[in-house]
Amino acid sequence: MLNLPHPFTMITTDLKKAKKALQQNNIVAIPTETVYGLAGNAFSDVAIKKIFTLKKRPLYNPLIIHIKSAEFLPEVAIDIPKIAIQLAKEFWPGPLTLVLKKQPHISDLVTAGKNTVAIRVPNHPLTLELLNQLEFPVAAPSANPFGSISPTTAHHVHTYFKDDLAIILDGGACEKGIESTIIGFENKLPIVYRLGSLSIEHIEAKIGNVVAKTHSDDNSPVAPGMLSRHYAPATATFLTNNVEQLIQSHPNKKIGLLLFQNNVTQTVEHQEILSKSGNLNEAAKNLYAAMHHLDQLQLDMIIAERLPDIGLGKTMNDKLQRATKKN
Ligand code: TXA
Ligand code: MG
Repeated sequence: MLNLPHPFTMITTDLKKAKKALQQNNIVAIPTETVYGLAGNAFSDVAIKKIFTLKKRPLYNPLIIHIKSAEFLPEVAIDIPKIAIQLAKEFWPGPLTLVLKKQPHISDLVTAGKNTVAIRVPNHPLTLELLNQLEFPVAAPSANPFGSISPTTAHHVHTYFKDDLAIILDGGACEKGIESTIIGFENKLPIVYRLGSLSIEHIEAKIGNVVAKTHSDDNSPVAPGMLSRHYAPATATFLTNNVEQLIQSHPNKKIGLLLFQNNVTQTVEHQEILSKSGNLNEAAKNLYAAMHHLDQLQLDMIIAERLPDIGLGKTMNDKLQRATKKN
């Protein structure tokens, strides 16, 4: 059992309490297979405003609506392209977010004034059960303050929000550990806006080649998750192919290492190995927890090893690149 780290936050598996809080337009942290989310009634502007305030998120950055199944798509979206339906059938419940034209009743607060809305069906038993018991979908961004690493455990969420959050629904460590992959449509053609825990290879195996537009002008991003510096530990982070060399060029620094498979030979005290067996899915699951851990050690710098550029390795390199100070 978890020790309650704070008397005012309830870390629980009690769906009744979560349901009641959501019905009262309060915010509940929910587990998903990707990362934890800060959920509120998607049809209530009162709840949506609370999410933005709690997360300190700028209002121009829209939220993802979580629905219980693909059948409920027409409740939130219109003019749904055939490929979107195919993708929903293939990958939902799962780590795929579709950006579609919004139903007129979807609040401008959720979509940041855009005429599109981001939607997914999360694949976590507790949260699916919760959605099934609710008469509305929930809007939920990742449960971290704007600009910080996404949380993959209830404890991470609590560390971020302390007693500002009444209920954290505890669904254990997230299975995937990295946010969903976001796909939008331009002239009915699928475009990947954010790399995530559904790999491009998996998507292409079902629908053929897709275009990725994951970098854009920081002043007008298509998906604000594309901002070049977004997933950020507070500790200066560097991404490299040659860890040993970078260690040597910083002799007097307190360093933490984020490594794929093997320890480096030198004596660096803090080394996080993402997957001893070299499995990219396992590495993805461990990535954010390892970043959280290193970030709490008061280090001068974190050196991350670039991962193989295939499957989820691509996604992780993209996240790490964005966590890196550009200098
Ligand atoms: O795995 C996930 O997607 C998690 C879990 C909780 O579901 N959620 C998540 O939400 O990562 P968030 O808010 O941290 O990231 C959602 C991204 C943001 O970059 C946002 O800008 C983008 O989705 N987005 C939302 N609505 C959009 C829209 N209509 N058009 C383009 N991008 C959109
Ligand atoms: Mg986020």
